[in-house]
Amino acid sequence: MEALLKKLTETFGPSGEEAAVRTLIEAEIKDSVDRIFTDNLGNLFALREGAGPAIMLSAHMDEIGVIITHIDEHGFMRLAPVGGMAPHLLIGQRLRFRDGRVATVYHEKLKSLRDLEWSKLYLDGGAAAAPPENPVAVGDLACFDQPFQRAGGRYLAKALDDRAGCALLIETARRLPRELPHTVCFVFSVQEEVGLRGATTAAYRLKPAYGLAVDVTRVGDTPKAPVMAVSLGQGPAIKIKDSSVICHPLVRRFMIDTAAELGIPYQLEVLERGGTDAGAIHLSREGVPSGVLSIPCRYIHTPSEMVDAGDMEHALTLLVKLCSKPWPAL
Ligand code: CO
Ligand code: ZN
Repeated sequence: MEALLKKLTETFGPSGEEAAVRTLIEAEIKDSVDRIFTDNLGNLFALREGAGPAIMLSAHMDEIGVIITHIDEHGFMRLAPVGGMAPHLLIGQRLRFRDGRVATVYHEKLKSLRDLEWSKLYLDGGAAAAPPENPVAVGDLACFDQPFQRAGGRYLAKALDDRAGCALLIETARRLPRELPHTVCFVFSVQEEVGLRGATTAAYRLKPAYGLAVDVTRVGDTPKAPVMAVSLGQGPAIKIKDSSVICHPLVRRFMIDTAAELGIPYQLEVLERGGTDAGAIHLSREGVPSGVLSIPCRYIHTPSEMVDAGDMEHALTLLVKLCSKPWPAL
């Protein structure tokens, strides 16, 4: 899991440019599934055929980033967010473009850091010229440039949102039994961070009987954090609700019962703000009963997101079991 997480999180993949992540996942999962294909938007589907109706598992490949909006004659680039990126987190950060070029972010003179807004930030990639001498173009995307590291029993990396989910889906595919009561569709979706766009078309295509998103969630266990009943290291979280979905009671119950049956620690999650792929899946066609398995994560949408190694292992055990059991009928 750790080696796979390192590869996945260090790969470039802001929303709309998930190709490198997709290529990596395809290579990692292809020997564990019956069928693999990509749709028009770039979602990757990896299917294991089973006896019963299909379960769609979804983890998003994209990460937050920035987009170049303007390049001046000195080569300084202006930027805008792609997904939920905060400007103050960018100061002094290295950002990386698709081709590996790096740049650093700083800000214009400010009276106070409170005046910081996107229009005051610029990106310096070392080229003292406008295009074409400068290899950057308006519309280029960049993401954080951070190595994956282990810190105690935790993993630190950029893009654990949601490469942690991608790693779990790949590992689940590797551990599934030969006979399955359901067809299991692993979907690696695009453009979640800009509005659950990939999951929308993926669910429409698959027409699944059930949906299950696997993504990170916020925690309330850091100094003076907003109150929230989820902590790192207390097991994966079974989502009750966020701003995109009220998880189906039947799916929720099935997840809770399965965790209890396995003796795995779990937490119940009510996320007051934020959404995930289940938000799109459950509204597909005539409605798809959906749930979410969440990995508790500190510092979401920063260069150093943190998850617990034990939570990842428990999530994997639970996912394998969830895919190996018959799901309750509606
Ligand atoms: Co996110
Ligand atoms: Zn996410």
